[in-house]
Amino acid sequence: MKNILITGGAGFIGSNLTVELLSRGYYVTILDNLSSQIHSENEFNFSHKNFKFIQGDVRVISDWKAAIKDQDAIIHYASETGTGQSMYEINRYTNVNVVGTSNLFHCLSNYKHKVRKIILASSRAVYGEGKYFSNEEGVMYPCSRNYKLVSKGKYDHYGKNGCLLELRPTDEKSMIQPSSVYAITKSTQEQITMLMGKALSIPTVALRYQNVYGPKQSLRNPYTGILSVFSTRILNGNNIHIYEDGLQSRDFVFISDVVAATILSLENQESNYHIFNVGSGNPTSVNDIALKLTNELGIKNKIKITGQYRIGDIRHNYACLNKIKKVLDFEPKYDVDLGIKKFVSWLKTQKVQKDNYLKSIGELKQNGFIK
Ligand SMILES: NC(=O)c1ccc[n+]([C@@H]2O[C@H](COP(=O)([O-])OP(=O)(O)OC[C@H]3O[C@@H](n4cnc5c(N)ncnc54)[C@H](O)[C@@H]3O)[C@@H](O)[C@H]2O)c1
Repeated sequence: MKNILITGGAGFIGSNLTVELLSRGYYVTILDNLSSQIHSENEFNFSHKNFKFIQGDVRVISDWKAAIKDQDAIIHYASETGTGQSMYEINRYTNVNVVGTSNLFHCLSNYKHKVRKIILASSRAVYGEGKYFSNEEGVMYPCSRNYKLVSKGKYDHYGKNGCLLELRPTDEKSMIQPSSVYAITKSTQEQITMLMGKALSIPTVALRYQNVYGPKQSLRNPYTGILSVFSTRILNGNNIHIYEDGLQSRDFVFISDVVAATILSLENQESNYHIFNVGSGNPTSVNDIALKLTNELGIKNKIKITGQYRIGDIRHNYACLNKIKKVLDFEPKYDVDLGIKKFVSWLKTQKVQKDNYLKSIGELKQNGFIK
């Protein structure tokens, strides 16, 4: 496999992956519409002798046809990615994410090609709340929280007897319970990809990335990426707003580990037709991540815990990595302390972007999704 197409490759994960693939001797083509929510004008000016850029849209079949020509593998990243925004921009999210993916398989079904592998960026969002345990009820997959309790500050998940449920790492066999339109589109992308891959005998892999962070993350997009949103707030002299009590947690995985897992999936045929979690394997609370970021930036007293909550937000989720460790020998190399250090040293080299956070929150409030 030599020629790799990365859709959405001008974005955060795709641009990091592109550099690594080129350094390993691959030929890389990017298909990306340079969405203005993510990119500023003329920002993407990458060049390399083995690199080609196609400005195009995954919603347009002719753009896919031009991009697929001569490709051996496709890494499909192009997506709208804001969980909150997906709740009121439903058509845009379904068009880009679902129709975009169905266009890919329409082309592979109907036109000549030589694609021999497809990797889809899925998301931990497909699990919703993920896996929990109680002594009385065993393994549980709680559905979205009771907002009456949440509004009284009871943010966690409780069993039938009122006991706090214990958080467990979420494995790939866990229940799929999307809690946002974004999550539904990622789950649908996965289903189309895994089903059509088998039907067309093209090995497919879905990677359920956890919260990815690191250099080249869009500092301009206020709709997603906790660390980039926090960073742009701070660099503009504003407070970081933390929802709930700040003890909600996520699995923050550093970009280099995500790139490594993706290349393992591309190169190792043991990955074919499988779904894998990709994460650090550890939960970190939102409070802790905010503190680590502000400490590394040398800034104090900028964290404000609001007690508000967003409809559709989950309380906790972190990845069980047993499958990807066993099948692909993947081992994350960055803990959050090292990852944040690397992220902040990159951040210090970046132009400060306009802070559009309050605009994004205003949209959520107007639509009734913040309480
Ligand atoms: N970053 C994360 O934490 C994370 C976590 C789980 C899953 N993912 C998935 O990984 C993939 C890449 O995420 P990212 O963080 O690099 O996002 P990103 O927003 O940085 O990049 C997405 C890219 O897709 C492009 N794009 C958007 N709409 C398009 C369209 N209609 N046609 C062509 N290109 C289009 C954008 O211009 C952008 O360059 C996405 O599929 C996302 O759902 C990301």
